[in-house]
Order: sequence, then structure tokens, then C-alpha cells
Amino acid sequence: MKKIFITTPIYYPNNNLHIGHAYTTILADTYKRYKKMQGYEVFFLTGSDEHGQKIAEKALEENKKPKEYVDKIIENFKILWKKLNIEYDFFIRTTDNYHQKYIQNTFVNLLSKNYIYKDNYKGLYCKYDETFFTKNQVLEGNICPECKRKLIYLEEESYFLKVSIFKKWIIDKLKNTNLLSPNHFTKELINNFLNDSFLDLSITRTSIDWGIKVPNDHKHVIYVWFDALLNYLSVFKTKESKYEIEDIWSKQSEWEIIQLIGKEITRFHAIYWPIILKMKNYRLPKIIAHGWLITDQGDKMSKSKNNSIDPIKLLKKYQSDEIRFYLLNNIKLGDDGKFSEKLLIKTINGILVNKYSNLVARTDNMIRKYNNGYIPKKIIETKSEKNLEREILKLENNYYKYMDNFSINDAIDQLIKYTDILNKYIEEKEPWKEKNQEYLNTILNFLINNIYKLSYLFSPFLPNSFKKVNMWLNDKDFSKKINKLDFLFKRIKD
Ligand code: MSP
Repeated sequence: MKKIFITTPIYYPNNNLHIGHAYTTILADTYKRYKKMQGYEVFFLTGSDEHGQKIAEKALEENKKPKEYVDKIIENFKILWKKLNIEYDFFIRTTDNYHQKYIQNTFVNLLSKNYIYKDNYKGLYCKYDETFFTKNQVLEGNICPECKRKLIYLEEESYFLKVSIFKKWIIDKLKNTNLLSPNHFTKELINNFLNDSFLDLSITRTSIDWGIKVPNDHKHVIYVWFDALLNYLSVFKTKESKYEIEDIWSKQSEWEIIQLIGKEITRFHAIYWPIILKMKNYRLPKIIAHGWLITDQGDKMSKSKNNSIDPIKLLKKYQSDEIRFYLLNNIKLGDDGKFSEKLLIKTINGILVNKYSNLVARTDNMIRKYNNGYIPKKIIETKSEKNLEREILKLENNYYKYMDNFSINDAIDQLIKYTDILNKYIEEKEPWKEKNQEYLNTILNFLINNIYKLSYLFSPFLPNSFKKVNMWLNDKDFSKKINKLDFLFKRIKD
């Protein structure tokens, strides 16, 4: 059996999540469902990144202890994932004991191998992004190149991870393997971070205390990114884990590993993370980066800019399938994409209602009217069905090809074409005028079988709709009368 490990970033619980976080997680869930369709064993991991200054400060603002503060937010994370139909297999929290222990053990281990050493750090630091920047990277006036906030000068004793010795190695991996895709991110990463000085990474802080302590040197707290990245390994240290780290990450492992992230964290996932894996003699994953959700004005959505959309509010008005579909269909993976309710409604009405839902509702009607609610057997098949079947097979093959290449919107496009073919078939055949009962049965049978297949292919994007179709068709037991059709999508007033 083929196996795949799928991850999302672990999100900061300094705030509730917005639609951008939902996008990454929906992508991961879509791939879980797609791979399951193909018989894969899947392990899908998501979670929360709970340490660091940002979270400590937020908790203080609310007059709470950090752990107490994040506990509440994590509940909301889980509620959101449930509402969006996200079927993760494990939710990791970096405050969990097994994780903390694993981080400390790894620290000691890398220290003993001389991959970690102690020195002094001087430089410009962004408190918000919890990152040091080099002179070349900072914007004029000591402004953070990422969040555009003012940087502070920080000088402190620190432990460093010896990443610089792997500069050539990582450039080679980025250039010559499919470590990071889509490809345009690779070039950006090499130009921005690997072309000039590539310094060792400071991985401890003495100015913070909400975090995992360095064993035997407690004034040092482990840097939140070093702590966070290792979650992809530490998860296999839980008591319940069916797998060992080596099962998945050893060089002999047969597992595929895909890690979905937003483009702003490619530096951590496609440079530092592979180097850490190399230090531990593990294999490399496939990192899939996506672009940002942006507002109508073209700004990145984020909580701190107060321009983000709350998915929980959205879910009060729209079905989770509708939100999933918009994000997967309207955004090309790797590009930035706009999100607004206006655009969402346009997609729901234009595609989900007019094309897909309408096709299903019309067919339901005809089955009831012309065959008493039973799905007739196919008796005769004419050239037109055979031709359409050939066309459909092509679309289906394209769908799989696009999905395997992470061109989700193109894959969906094949299914929209498939829907169009079936709607056109109804219009051309005009079953309401068909006098020959045997051929009428053939038409109905052809429609039902294809609606089922179409819904199955749609199911990674539209899991609820597939459930409804299965209820309607008695899980494809055609000896039974069809059930009442739970409407798939309804027109929304714009
Ligand atoms: N905690 C780190 C990740 C550690 S992973 C070892 C972190 N957390 S975060 O809460 O800031 O989440 C960042 C991720 O959320 C992005 O990589 C992306 O997946 C998602 N997004 C946040 N804002 C987004 C948009 N505006 N658009 C799309 N995705 C966005 O970074």
C-alpha cells in the first residue's frame, strides 16, 4: 500500500485563525482525500505553535498565563477545522510534553555533534517575526523586510545552529531536486537568502522565557522556529503514534511526504528545515508553497492589519463546500488570490448552482417522473453515449495528471467541463420528448452513473456534496428507490 504524510504549518495561537490559514489547511485536506481515493494510507498532521514572545505578550494583554490563553484559542482552531470538514489525523501542540522533550533531546544531540555551538549575537531583530535580519535584508530606517515594523538592536549570548556549512548542499538540492515547488519560489529563495552571506542561525534567546529551556543552561530558551519545525518529527513520539520517526523520515522509507506552507515561510521550510533533516541524516520532503489571500485592494490579509476574513463568520452564511471550492478553484496554487464575499457568491451561483447542482436536481426530477424514483438499467447504448464516454475519459485522465502536479484549479476545470457535457447531453436529448422507453432508460442511467462519477471526482473539494449524493443514491445501490435529494447548492442573492 502506498503511504503519504501530509502536513500544514502549525499556526500561532496568538489570535483566532483567518481565511488564509484555512486555505492552507483546506489544501492539505484536499490532498488527503485525493490520496485516499487512490488507496493510499495517509497521515495528516496539523497543530499549533505555542511558544515565543508574541504569544507571551498577547496573553499578558489579556491578563492570562500563556498556556491558559492558548488553550482557549486552540479550542477555536479545532472548532474551525471541524466546520470546514478537515479530517486531520493528529493535532500537535508544541506545549505537549513529548514535543518539549524531543526538542531538548535534539538540542543536546546536535550540540554533541558540534552542529550547535555557543557565541554572541549582535544584530537587528524583529520582535514580531521573531527573526534576526542581516544589514542587506533590512529596509531603510531599520524596518523589517517582512512585516514592515521597526527592528530593534539586540545583543545577546546565543546558541547557533551551524547551517552555513550546508550552503552549497542546500543550493544544490533547491536547484536540482523537487524540494520546493512551484518553481518560481526556488529562484526567489536562492536570490534573497543564499546568494550573499548565509550565516549560522541563532536558535536560543535569553530575553524570552515563554518557551522550551536549553537543558543545563536554563537562561536560554529555544528559538520558536527551531522548536516549531521539529514538530514534524516529534509527533511520532506520542504514546498513541502508530509510526516511528524512522518509518517516515529514514532514507529507506517508502512514504511520500508533502508539506504545505504559505510562501512567507519558505525560508524556514526549504532552507533551515532540510538542513536540520540533513544533520539528523533523514530524507527530504516535498515542500509545496502557496501564495497569499489578498483583499480587493491587493493587500495580504492578516489579523494584525485588521483586514482578514473570519471563516467562522463566513460559515454562518455559506457551506463549507462552497468556501473550499472557491479557494481551490479560483486560486492557482503558488499565486496570490483575491477573496471577497462578492467573488465567492459569483462562483457559487455561476458554477456550483448553475452547473453542478442544477444537473443533479434535473436528473432527480426525471428519475421520479419517468421511472418512479428507480434508476433504470442501461439497455441500449448509442454512438452518442460512447463518444461522450471517450471524451469523459480524457477529462478524467487530465484531472489525475493535474492533481498529481498540484494544479488543482486545472483539475477542477476538467470537472466543470464534465458537468457541461452532461448538461448539454440533457438539452440535446430532451428526455421529456423521448417516446422510446428503452432509450429513455439509457439516458437516465447514463446520467446517474456519470453524476456519481463526477461527484466522486469532486469529492476532495466538495466532500459534503458527495455525502449527499451517496445518501440520495443509497450508496449506489440501484436496486433501491432513490431518496429525497438534499439540495447541493442554492442560488445566493448578490
Ligand atoms: N507558526 C509558524 C509556522 C511554523 S511551522 C513549523 C507560522 N504561523 S502562522 O500562524 O503565522 O501561520 C502562517 C501560515 O498561515 C502561512 O504559512 C500560511 O500557510 C497561512 N497564512 C497566513 N496568512 C495568510 C494569507 N493571507 N494568505 C494565505 N495563507 C496565509 O508562521
